Amino acid sequence: MKTTIKEAKNYLNQEVTIGGWLHNKRSSGKIAFLQLRDGTGFMQGVVVKAEVSEDTFQLAKNITQESSLFVTGEITEDTRSDLGYEMQVKSIEVIDEAHDYPITPKNHGTEFLMDHRHLWLRSKKQHAVMKIRNEIIRATYEFFNDNGFTKIDPPILTASAPEGTSELFHTKYFDEDAFLSQSGQLYMEAAAMAHGKVFSFGPTFRAEKSKTRRHLIEFWMIEPEMAFYNHADSLEVQEQYVTHLVQSVLKNCKIELKTLERDTEKLAKVATPFPRITYDDAVTFLKEEGFDDIEWGEDFGAPHETAIANHYDLPVFITDYPTKIKPFYMQPNPDNEDTVLCADLIAPEGYGEIIGGSERINDLALMEQRINEHELDAESYSYYLDLRKYGSVPHSGFGLGLERAVAWISGVEHVRETSPFPRLLNRLYP
Ligand code: 4AD
Ligand code: MG
Repeated sequence: MKTTIKEAKNYLNQEVTIGGWLHNKRSSGKIAFLQLRDGTGFMQGVVVKAEVSEDTFQLAKNITQESSLFVTGEITEDTRSDLGYEMQVKSIEVIDEAHDYPITPKNHGTEFLMDHRHLWLRSKKQHAVMKIRNEIIRATYEFFNDNGFTKIDPPILTASAPEGTSELFHTKYFDEDAFLSQSGQLYMEAAAMAHGKVFSFGPTFRAEKSKTRRHLIEFWMIEPEMAFYNHADSLEVQEQYVTHLVQSVLKNCKIELKTLERDTEKLAKVATPFPRITYDDAVTFLKEEGFDDIEWGEDFGAPHETAIANHYDLPVFITDYPTKIKPFYMQPNPDNEDTVLCADLIAPEGYGEIIGGSERINDLALMEQRINEHELDAESYSYYLDLRKYGSVPHSGFGLGLERAVAWISGVEHVRETSPFPRLLNRLYP
C-alpha cells in the first residue's frame, strides 16, 4: 500500500510504501535511524541489521542526505516522537542519489541559507512555517466565507496609489505609466458597493527601502471591505478574524508549533475583545515610559509599538491617529477633526503592526478636498469618486499583512522566513 507520512497513522501494524527524501540519519553497526520526510511530515525509519538483507542494511548506512527513495516497512507506534509512530524498514529503493547537498546539519549563516532558499524550504523549521502559513490562508477563507463575505480580486497593475506615492513600483503599461498595486483597497471599496461584504487576498508591492525584520518588498495582504460598517463594527470583525486565525493554528498545527518551539500559552490567551488605546493616550503612555523623543503628530516607530504591545498580553488596537500621518481616504473623527477613525492592530511580543484599517470618507466634497490636498491626480481617482456620487454609504475595511501574522503566530523572528521566496531590499534571487 502506497501512502504518505501523514496518512501512515491509519496503517498501524501494517506494511506500507512511502516516497520521500532522506533528511538525516544516524547509524551504528547494528541499527540505522533514517529521518525521512515526504512533504506531509517527518518520520523515523528504523533499519535493524538482523531483520533486513545485508544489501538493504548497507544501503541504509550509506544513503546520502536528500536522496529520494521509496521505503517499505511496517508502521509501529512510537510514543517518544511528536508524530506518534515510525516505520520498521524492510526495504529501500533509491530513486535519485543526491551528492553534496549544500545545507548540512551544521549551522549556516542566514545569507547562505537565503541564497539556497529553494532547498532551505525542505528543512524542518521552514517546512513548519509554511504549513502554518497555509493554515492561516485556509482559516482566512473559512472565516470570510462563513461570515457572508464574497472574494473579489483587485488588479495588480494599477494607475492609482492608495497609500501614498513614495513607495510605488513603476512600470510601463504600453505607452502609459502604471504601478504595481500597493493595496487593493480602493477597488475593494467599489466591490463592497456591489457585494456588501467583500475580501481580497493577493500580492502587494512596496518599494520601501526598509531593511527591518518586519518589511518585505512583496507581501500578501488580506483586505476586507464592508458596506454599512462603521469603524467600531470593523474593529469587531478584526478581533474575531485574528482570534480565529490563532485558534485554527493552535488546533491544526500542533506538530509545527512544537517544531518551532513556539510558546503556545501566549497564543492561547488570544480572545476577543482586544484592548484599545487611542493615539493620544499612547503618546502620554510613551512619555511616562521615558520616550522623550515622541511628540503628538509623529508616527510611532518599532520601539514605540513594542513598548505599547508589551503592556498587554493581547494584540492591541491603537486608534484615532492624527489625520496628517494617515492616508487621504480616512473618515475624520467627529469629536476631533485632527484625528481619523482608524486603528492599527499591534501584535504582542514585538511583531509590530499586523493590521491597518479605517472608516472611509463617504462624503463626495470632502473626498475631493482630500485628493486635492494630497496632490493626487484627480483623473485617476475618478472611479473612486463615483462611489461617493451614486448611493454613497458609510463603510470600513482593513488590511492584514499575511507574513507579519505568520511571523507572530509561528514565533519566527524575521518575516523573510514566512515567505517561500521573499523579495527583500537586496534580494531578487532565487
Ligand atoms: O497599513 P497598510 O499600509 O494599510 C493598507 O494598505 C490599507 N489600504 C489596508 C486597508 O485598509 N485595506 O498595510 C496593511 C498591512 C500592515 O498592517 C502590515 O501588516 C502589512 O500590511 N504591511 C507589510 N508587511 C510586510 N512588509 C511590508 N513592507 C508591509 N507594509 C505593510
Ligand atoms: Mg499601516
